Amino acid sequence: MKKSAVKTFGILTSGGDAPGLNAAIRGVARTAIDKYDMKVIGIQDGYRGLMQGRCRELKPEDFSGILMRGGTILGTSREKPFKNPVKDPETGRTAVESIKYYYKEWGLDALVVIGGNGTNSTGALLQEEGLNIIGLPKTIDNDLAGTDITFGFHTAVDVATEAIDRLHTTAHSHNRIMIIEVMGHKAGWLALYAGVAGGGDVILIPEIPYKIESIAKHLQKRKEAGKAFSIVVVAEGALSESETDMDKKTFKQSRNAMSYSIAYRVAHELEAATGLESRVTVLGYLQRGGTPSPYDRILATQFGVEAAHMLARGEFGAMTAFVKGALTSVPLKIVAGKTKKVPMDDSVLLCGRAAGTCFGE
Ligand code: F6P
Repeated sequence: MKKSAVKTFGILTSGGDAPGLNAAIRGVARTAIDKYDMKVIGIQDGYRGLMQGRCRELKPEDFSGILMRGGTILGTSREKPFKNPVKDPETGRTAVESIKYYYKEWGLDALVVIGGNGTNSTGALLQEEGLNIIGLPKTIDNDLAGTDITFGFHTAVDVATEAIDRLHTTAHSHNRIMIIEVMGHKAGWLALYAGVAGGGDVILIPEIPYKIESIAKHLQKRKEAGKAFSIVVVAEGALSESETDMDKKTFKQSRNAMSYSIAYRVAHELEAATGLESRVTVLGYLQRGGTPSPYDRILATQFGVEAAHMLARGEFGAMTAFVKGALTSVPLKIVAGKTKKVPMDDSVLLCGRAAGTCFGE
């Protein structure tokens, strides 16, 4: 057995689930147990379980057969302990006080948190509170700062691309505009990658506000060239140019007032502008569920194994990351509270544009 700074650690998954969570848990735990003889405490339902003291020790048999399973064996929640300052009437503790209480009560030397923006931001705050935190980057949105790639993203791209391929054939048969909405509130990575992979004629992402006239023009041109069908890939956070003038609050209010998602609005606007028949598909949670792709299984395992080595080295307050193709770690402080958006010089964006995709500009 190798020497380790950590004897016992807790592990949780938090935020929206993503394919590869079980592979990551397995990677951390197997390395921690086999190489360093650490004790692994599995915490249920993310930070909520930690606040409520719900956990159990995980043994090697718990990780058997989970590599290819979607979801998370630990369960998850979107609990944000720092946004909940109210004292629990039964315990007399706030959420953060409860977390600190159980961390001590269970004899944890460190806590591994697997998740996206919210999870790693909470991790950064807990580190400031004196806990030893290591983060792992998970999200199908790939919008986490500090890392080039998050696990879950490529599986979601695969799922969305297959959906676009299927829509292509029916769009062709009926000469329709097929509008497909994929996840991504603040960043358009998923729409961009699936859109380019699936040969989307139009891709709308939050980073590039769209003009309906530009899209209509593009679709008309295709029709004149003998292609009466088109595929429009829309990120759920796409917005029109006129919406960019709104302040954050007004934008939120107007979106909350919409009883339908953005793809329906785009369909309606395009039908009005072109007279072409359109149909909408909202992929939703299909993008998050199911088996991780081989790529995500490997990526999540790499992050997991690296996290175990970091526990052994006592390297806390950091998140595992891929930066310029190399497996590394970055301080949680630089991850917290940020969103990694698609930059305007992104190579996939540029190649999509060069290959004739309309981005609604
Ligand atoms: O995991 C991120 C994400 O997939 C977003 O793209 C999406 O808007 C959000 O989760 C919705 O998840 P939930 O309904 O679980 O909050």
